[in-house]
Order: sequence, then C-alpha cells, then structure tokens
Amino acid sequence: MNRLEIFFADCTRTVDRKLDELVPSVQTEPKKLHEAIRWSLFAGGKRFRPALVLVIGKTFSAAEEKLLQTAAAVEMIHTYSLIHDDLPAMDDDDLRRGRLTCHKKFDEATAILAGDVLQTLAFQAIAEDKNLTMKIRVKLITELAQSAAKMANGQQLDLEAEGKKISVEELKNIHQCKTGAIISASAKAGAIIAEASADELKAVSNYASKLGLLFQITDDLLDVTQTSEVLGKTAGKDAASEKATYPAFYGLEETRKLAETVHAQSCQELEKIDKDTDLLCEIADFILYRKT
Ligand code: IPE
Ligand code: IPE
Ligand code: MG
Ligand code: MG
Ligand code: MG
Repeated sequence: MNRLEIFFADCTRTVDRKLDELVPSVQTEPKKLHEAIRWSLFAGGKRFRPALVLVIGKTFSAAEEKLLQTAAAVEMIHTYSLIHDDLPAMDDDDLRRGRLTCHKKFDEATAILAGDVLQTLAFQAIAEDKNLTMKIRVKLITELAQSAAKMANGQQLDLEAEGKKISVEELKNIHQCKTGAIISASAKAGAIIAEASADELKAVSNYASKLGLLFQITDDLLDVTQTSEVLGKTAGKDAASEKATYPAFYGLEETRKLAETVHAQSCQELEKIDKDTDLLCEIADFILYRKT
C-alpha cells in the first residue's frame, strides 16, 4: 500500500468506529429504521469526505480526537444524500455500494426516514462534541447546514435539467452544488477545527471547491467508462436518464482534459498554504485517476 492508501485505510477504520458509536444499534426500536441506516452506512464507501476533514485538520495541527466526530458527521450527511438520490422519485437506482439501495432492501418510506435521521444525527454529533468549544461547534453547524442546503438545491437543479439543454455555466453550478458543497464543507470543517487563519481557510476553500468539481466530473466519466460491478452502482445510468453531465456536454476526451485542468487548478491553490500539503496534492491525484 502507498502512503495515501494507508491514510485512507486508517481513516476508514477510525471513522467507522466513531460512526458505530454515534448511530443507534439495530436492536433499537424501530429496528427496521436502524437496520436501514446501518445497511447504507456500513456498506463500504470510500469515506472520502471524512478523510478530507482529517487530512485538512491534521495539516493545520488539530488533534485527531477533535476531528473525528465531525468526520463522522459529514459521512452521515453524505450517506443520507445517497439514500435520497437513489429513491424512485430521484435517480431511481437499485444498486449502491455494491448492494441493494436502501429503498429496494427495505421500502421507500423507510429509506426517506433513514436519510432524515442520518442528517439530524450528523448535526447532533457536532452539537454534542465535548472536544470542541461552543464557538467552533456553532461555526461547524452553520457551515454544514449551508452546504447541506446547497446540496439539496443542486439535486433539485440536477433533476430539473434531465432531458434539457443547459449551458455549461448551469452544468458547473449543478455539480458544484450537488457534490462540491459537502466536499468543500468537509475540508473547511477541518480548517475550522484547527483554527486556521482566515487566509488559510480561504486557500482550503478554493482547493476544495476545485476538488469538489473534479470529483463530480470524474463521477460522470466513471458512469460512462466503468462497469456496475466495479462501481457498486449502476453504470450508464446518466445517459439513460438524460442527465446533464460533462461527457454528455463535451464528449469523453474533452471531459478528461477538463478534469486535468481542474486538478491542476486545485493543486495550484495549495501553493498558498505554508504547510506540508503533499498529501493534499496526492488526494487531488487520487480523485483524477480514481477507478471507483
Ligand atoms: C457518490 O459519492 C455520489 C457523488 C457525490 C458523486 P462517492 O463516490 O464518494 O460514493 P461512496 O461514498 O464512495 O459510496
Ligand atoms: C449525486 O450525484 C450527488 C449527491 C448524492 C448529492 P449522482 O446522482 O451522479 O451520484 P451517483 O452517481 O448516483 O452516485
Ligand atoms: Mg443524482
Ligand atoms: Mg445518482
Ligand atoms: Mg453519478
């Protein structure tokens, strides 16, 4: 394993332990709801957003115990967004993280409620984090609340754009909202916890905003180029649903070039940070070259 793989593996282990602590057990009533939450949450998943909280926080010297609960919280919000994204009223998908989607395994009402609970548990986890001052808790909650709303706005725009011709500015906005917002908030959360300076926070925010756009561009590419088996979700779904995506707009080759440009822009932002940012650059590489 290389340095980044070791970092991700460590991160998955510690974050999953924290998630297990924060989420009610399957024995808790109503059992079906808690089974559904755990079905989606502990199904694999790259844990990319919590990794970002940890790596940015550590870049600015925050102790891991201050970062973990927030890292778990962003993963809960992300998993909620995936459960709702897969619903019949949205992308109508049967497969997620290599297993049946929440509404397929359980039912639609349970999947909606599982998403709702995950979102509220996320905010509760931050509100009750005794490792953080009240002031930092409020800053984190504000940041995450704004980005969760932005994500939902992006999801609405994504659905409204199905089958329509939209401009490239509109496409970029959809991607930055539906996917970029939570990724940016995760990175900023790490910097907020570490009490980074205003300039540092700005640089982190710029880096993460490019990274978030890159993440959805590569998600669009993978939907075209990868198999369902490898992705753990149905490939080819975007074209079938006439989604607004970069490959649909520019074709594969141009989209790959654009991904490289956005990757370079995200790494450029790191030059403004006077810390060891090698791992942050490797993370951008990982997103550019990812296979799942
Ligand atoms: C998928 O996110 C949804 C998008 C925002 C593109 P991930 O690719 O991070 O999915 P998991 O968490 O690894 O399952
Ligand atoms: C999902 O985008 C973004 C959110 C879940 C907020 P997609 O619809 O492209 O994600 P996948 O491809 O289903 O994972
Ligand atoms: Mg979607
Ligand atoms: Mg989807
Ligand atoms: Mg997708």
